[in-house]
Amino acid sequence: MPISDLVLEKIEEYSIFVDWNMAFAGKSMGNRHLFRVNKIAMHLHDQEGGDIDVVLAGAWLHDVGLVEGNEGHCFKGMRIARELLEKLGVDEGTITKVLHCIEAHDGEVEATTVEAKIVHDADTIDKMGPLGAIRHAWKMANIAEKRYTALDLLEMLPDHLAERQAKLYFESSRKLVDKYHRAMREFFVNREMARKVIHRVIDMARDGVPSDVIINKLLADESLPVEFLEALEEQSTISLLQELG
Ligand SMILES: [Fe+2]
Ligand SMILES: [Fe+2]
Repeated sequence: MPISDLVLEKIEEYSIFVDWNMAFAGKSMGNRHLFRVNKIAMHLHDQEGGDIDVVLAGAWLHDVGLVEGNEGHCFKGMRIARELLEKLGVDEGTITKVLHCIEAHDGEVEATTVEAKIVHDADTIDKMGPLGAIRHAWKMANIAEKRYTALDLLEMLPDHLAERQAKLYFESSRKLVDKYHRAMREFFVNREMARKVIHRVIDMARDGVPSDVIINKLLADESLPVEFLEALEEQSTISLLQELG
């Protein structure tokens, strides 16, 4: 059978459970990434079309492979999602489409369907701008074997963010991230301030503070550039998308 509302609810429940309790050894409790990716995916679906059930199932499940670690999580996720979708009675044609969204979400595999392109772009948008910079620093502090310093990460971030942007499939995605880009340029101008912010993020991440808690702490810091704070707030609450409808 195709994906019913009830099946979608179970997919959502399972994906959040895995993300909060099992991914990153339980350090990402309360992580809002999946919720944001879903909202962005819905917005992109309004612009680009495709099968909404496949888009949403793909958006919820795209990171399910993180339960077995970050390395190769797209491919591990395909196996885990297949087991779940088969158990839920989803038909083979739909399973194939959802698995392609998972497989292609990181850009390692080229997305060939509109649904997979949407999931890829939605995930990528959440990895860009101020939010992406903070989440990347958090992730590196939690999973990288090397103990990166704030300066190391600051060196890497501009290229990392630019690489991400170059991979976006849709013009509507690029439009969404324009403001985030301006905010990042502003952020990188004051190197000492940028280093301090990244240093704080690394410290908190190593103390086991979830990325969304760190984001809320930074949002309360009025010494940070206004453009950076505005973009971070917009990204973390998806308020821009709500305004766009
Ligand atoms: Fe991922
Ligand atoms: Fe993701």
